[in-house]
Amino acid sequence: MADLLLGQVIRFQGDPFASDDAAQTMEHGAVLVDQGRIAALGEAADLRARFPMATVHDYGRRLISAGFIDAHVHYPQTAIIASWGKRLIDWLNTYTFPEEMRFADRAYADDIAARYLDLVLARGTTTVCSYATIHPESVDAIFAAAQTRGMRVFAGKTCMDRNAPEGLRDTAQSAYDDSKRLLEQWHGVDRLSYVITPRFSPTSTPEQLAALGALWREYPNCLMQTHLSEQPDEIAWVRELFPQSRDYLDTYEAQGLLREGAVYGHAIHLTDRERARLVEAGASLVHCPTSNTFIGSGLFDMGLARQLRVGLATDTGGGSSFSMLRTMAAAYEVAQLRGQSLHPSQLWWLATQGSARALRCEGRIGNIAVGMEADLVVIDLASTPAIAQAAARANDLWQAMFPTIMMGDDRAVSAVWLGGKRHEPETSGGGT
Ligand code: GUN
Ligand code: ZN
Repeated sequence: MADLLLGQVIRFQGDPFASDDAAQTMEHGAVLVDQGRIAALGEAADLRARFPMATVHDYGRRLISAGFIDAHVHYPQTAIIASWGKRLIDWLNTYTFPEEMRFADRAYADDIAARYLDLVLARGTTTVCSYATIHPESVDAIFAAAQTRGMRVFAGKTCMDRNAPEGLRDTAQSAYDDSKRLLEQWHGVDRLSYVITPRFSPTSTPEQLAALGALWREYPNCLMQTHLSEQPDEIAWVRELFPQSRDYLDTYEAQGLLREGAVYGHAIHLTDRERARLVEAGASLVHCPTSNTFIGSGLFDMGLARQLRVGLATDTGGGSSFSMLRTMAAAYEVAQLRGQSLHPSQLWWLATQGSARALRCEGRIGNIAVGMEADLVVIDLASTPAIAQAAARANDLWQAMFPTIMMGDDRAVSAVWLGGKRHEPETSGGGT
């Protein structure tokens, strides 16, 4: 039986970084969902008349959007989110690595994977692209939890064969073997995609990067994710570890880890050569604004969104929120500090189509269009008294959305649809 969702609809016909009329909004819109997909789209009155048998879900003035896509997260860092006071390398050693050690225990990994996905679903995120830990079981845990919920999820085993503590290191060979086995087991099963995942150059030898480059050549259709140029100290360390490399990007490029389908997190402190090569190679970047301010990394240049695929992400738990609304707010503020004012349509696009494009799945998710998978979020644009009184002054939908973008959280999420089914949370997921 089909479902007909009624409300204000936002969708994209193009890229708002490239044209001013890319976003389309419908005040009395309707989205018909049938067999997991968006089957029709239009004015509420028209679709009601055309599909009288459909079950109607009238969301009134609420906003119906594609679900949010968080293009760079570390689900194993869920429990250490908001840990005080360290820069990147300290933060990794003090909080991250000890926590990631615990994922040798499959039961613990299952617990956190379930907790994490429920937290993000409560915030309207319907797809994530996650790093696991070095433990293959941590990949099984997130994919199994995604399968139970019917979520489209990207994830991969994090590979590290140096500069990490005993118990969190693999080898070039075992990283290749484990990644390959997991890829064959999971990639393309249900809504799951395996991502080849070297953590970053400081924790991989050139041999390990080369082994993963070789694996990527064998499976060219999957994505490869890693970190790039997040903090100046990290870049200086990469220069010491790879004296023969031209720059940070070259440490990946030299091992076959730069081409379409490469997804680099952060990418803040880039050289001119790196920018040019990233554009030429058709790589994707992911902006992680709450993380970049929280860990003190720097201000991403949003001008890059005009040149290459840029997604938006929380970077849990380096980021300080699970919410893509909070992340849009941080993206807005970071851009302001760089003299760029992002329009609400650009922020919303980054959290949906932009991230989908970065993950090269824009034909399936991240927009409302006939034939696309029905992953949807319904947003209350007056979810708190503070937001409601500001939105009441709005003259158009963008003005009505902006207080929710800047001040909204999980209270703004009225409903989530996953693969055409209304997601019923098992617990409230409460809080912000
Ligand atoms: N660089 C390498 N690993 C990490 C991580 O876990 N978080 C962040 N923010 N940066 C990293
Ligand atoms: Zn990260």
